[in-house]
Amino acid sequence: MGLFSKDIKTMDDMLLHGMQDIYYAEQQITKALPKMVDQSTNRDLKQGLKNHLEETNKQIERLEQVFKKLGKTPSGTDCPAIDGLIKEADQTAGEIEDKSVLDAAIIANAQAVEHYEISRYGTLIAWAEELGHDDIVRFFTINLNEEKAANTKLNTIALRKGVNRKAAG
Ligand SMILES: [Fe+2]
Ligand SMILES: [Fe+2]
Repeated sequence: MGLFSKDIKTMDDMLLHGMQDIYYAEQQITKALPKMVDQSTNRDLKQGLKNHLEETNKQIERLEQVFKKLGKTPSGTDCPAIDGLIKEADQTAGEIEDKSVLDAAIIANAQAVEHYEISRYGTLIAWAEELGHDDIVRFFTINLNEEKAANTKLNTIALRKGVNRKAAG
């Protein structure tokens, strides 16, 4: 985005900007997840994060298909929001010594990322529908549903698989 010109003029420009934002975000997430897998101790958490890394790679491919459908070259734009979430996750994790407490923190940090993605994909779907890009809505919807499922899985691991209880004890 230029500093002296307003590059987003239409809702189509905004849709494209939103896609570039999430495309960049998904790439940063694929870089952050392996470290979170390494740091986590709980087996369900480790496996859950690994699975979501694979899903994330597929999500990036799906976004590339959407760019192509719109006749655009896939490209990212800086997303300070995801950079901030990842940075904060990294910093808090670095300050935690207890493995059980660290697991609970990793879940919370990962859920913050999932909520960011859920919000972005929800908006992209609404905008694409409004603009009549019905052919790309389903790609966003698959990604959105994966983010929602990842968030639910993290909830289950924290609450029903005992990660939070272990951290508290
Ligand atoms: Fe994602
Ligand atoms: Fe995600």
